[in-house]
Amino acid sequence: ENTEQQARFDQTIAADISIEPRDWMPEAYRKTLIRQIGQHAHSEVVGMLPEGNWITRAPTLRRKAVLLAKVQDEAGHALYLYSAAETLGADRDDMVEKLIDGKMKYSSIFNYPTLSWADVPAIGWLVDGAAIVNQVALCRASYGPYARAMVRVCKEESFHQRQGFEAMMALANGTEEQKKMAQDAVNRFWWPVLTMFGPSDDNSPNSAQSTAWKIKRFSNDELRQKFVDSTVPQVEALGLTVPDPDLKWNEQTGHYEFGEINWDEFYAVVAGQGPCNHERLAARRKAWEEGRWVREAASAYAARRQQAA
Ligand code: ACO
Repeated sequence: ENTEQQARFDQTIAADISIEPRDWMPEAYRKTLIRQIGQHAHSEVVGMLPEGNWITRAPTLRRKAVLLAKVQDEAGHALYLYSAAETLGADRDDMVEKLIDGKMKYSSIFNYPTLSWADVPAIGWLVDGAAIVNQVALCRASYGPYARAMVRVCKEESFHQRQGFEAMMALANGTEEQKKMAQDAVNRFWWPVLTMFGPSDDNSPNSAQSTAWKIKRFSNDELRQKFVDSTVPQVEALGLTVPDPDLKWNEQTGHYEFGEINWDEFYAVVAGQGPCNHERLAARRKAWEEGRWVREAASAYAARRQQAA
């Protein structure tokens, strides 16, 4: 039976037909999807914190309204993603508890602080820009609920990316001091953003299997290159510079060559030693504990309504 089911699964993947919750799937496929979708959902939630830090201090009412909407969108993305993980049998409370116990990962990028207002535009433009490059590819991931969630997420992320670029443009065309803030944000975010795509291909333990299962359609290095190629001209258009002395355009390949990423820093941040890891998890733990009575009340209400029906 199992080999017949496996053969059917393999044929479905080979034919580029999506796998749906009702379909049989290998346990390892289910497990890796829960791992990736769960990490992705956690990243959306934790990702609200660095930008949320500036909601009360946004420079104008318009910027504040846009930032509020953007941060709320990220919460929405987390909800689609937790729901997608639930279709695989994952339990939402269990995933959240693993996050706050440090047993599940989230994107390294959100462990960096937002020191000035310019970091908000930098995140919208660069972090959400990198997320789009990665997530456009995931719109064709083999697991249906994940791929479909990505379609909507990408539409919202492209609004975020544009608002970030527009706000960055205002700073880059502003006073000397504003331009300095903009450059400082690019200097601090550029390298951490490049690590959002994950380790280099020869150090990416999950890539081979995830590619065979068509969860991944492009490798970590391919997507990182795509991001660099599309973003360097944007940095230049703003009159800013990329903090990489080794960056150069290669006429032959039609790609930018760039310097060596500090992988030691990346692994340290993923292992919990980034500048804000402790603070981020403490914020999530506090929210989880303070929201307990709401979850309990909602469950009690739902149970009572079900009894009455
Ligand atoms: N931050 C934290 N952990 C990371 C990062 C990162 N930037 N990149 C890779 N890792 C982790 C992987 O999750 C994996 O850990 P695990 O095996 O314990 O789960 C390990 O490092 C090795 O990496 P890979 O073998 O390359 O892992 P994978 O094949 O899953 O590729 C990638 C990593 C590209 C991040 C993939 O999981 C992915 O596309 N995820 C969905 C996108 C996402 O999560 N985006 C979040 C940021 S965008 C946003 O929220 C706005």
